[in-house]
Amino acid sequence: MKIIKYEPRYEEGWLRCRVLAYLHTSMYEDVKTEKPQFPGRPTIELIALEDDMVVGILDMVLDTEEIQTSFLAKGLGAFLSVIAVHPDYQGRGIGQKLYEAALEELEKTPIEFIELYTRGDEPANNFYKKLGFELRLETYDVFGVEHSLGKEVVIKGMKNQRLLVETEDGQECKYTLVDGVYEVYDLAALDEIDYDRYYPSRGYYKKL
Ligand SMILES: CC(C)(COP(=O)(O)OP(=O)(O)OC[C@H]1O[C@@H](n2cnc3c(N)ncnc32)[C@H](O)[C@@H]1OP(=O)(O)O)[C@@H](O)C(=O)NCCC(=O)NCCS
Repeated sequence: MKIIKYEPRYEEGWLRCRVLAYLHTSMYEDVKTEKPQFPGRPTIELIALEDDMVVGILDMVLDTEEIQTSFLAKGLGAFLSVIAVHPDYQGRGIGQKLYEAALEELEKTPIEFIELYTRGDEPANNFYKKLGFELRLETYDVFGVEHSLGKEVVIKGMKNQRLLVETEDGQECKYTLVDGVYEVYDLAALDEIDYDRYYPSRGYYKKL
């Protein structure tokens, strides 16, 4: 197994690795048909190869002084947008080696912390805990249809691992709609949504 920087000729292998890795997770619906690009942003994009087959993938998007999208802490963060290992190759340390290779790259940058979001799957949550990540945030991804129309919301901050969210007129808000998925801040909001399924959505943080 070797880890190299992603090259476009590995795109199909990258996509297959990702879809298979996600197949038996709560993120199975999140299928990509093209490798995501991050125009204008510095990135770390690595793949693990076994006999030239992509068996692991990692993408990180780095904050700069000009563009800072990290949310879980102040300063320059790196957003781990994906880490996944082909199911036939899981449990052999490939995920950890990809992460360590990314850390080596981060040492050459001013990045101060890493943040990432995942759902409730035990392998992923254990993986991040083992790597020393701290759980900072928990919301819920709910798949359903809301009873009433959504409103513009403002994120006021965090308390007890919850997001404090208000509508524009200052009313506390229990959920909002993000990319077709309800992001629920208080499970009481489930009473207001016809949902099929929901998962915890956890924000993890690690200081470098
Ligand atoms: C999470 C994932 C990337 C881990 O990759 P991996 O190469 O299998 O993990 P590693 O072999 O490097 O394991 C490192 C540590 O992670 C934890 N871990 C990995 N697989 C685990 C499992 N199935 N159950 C519990 N803990 C697990 C363990 O703590 C392990 O350390 P240990 O071997 O000393 O016990 C992999 O399971 C995966 O691709 N999952 C599906 C995609 C996914 O959920 N990605 C995260 C999206 S946010």
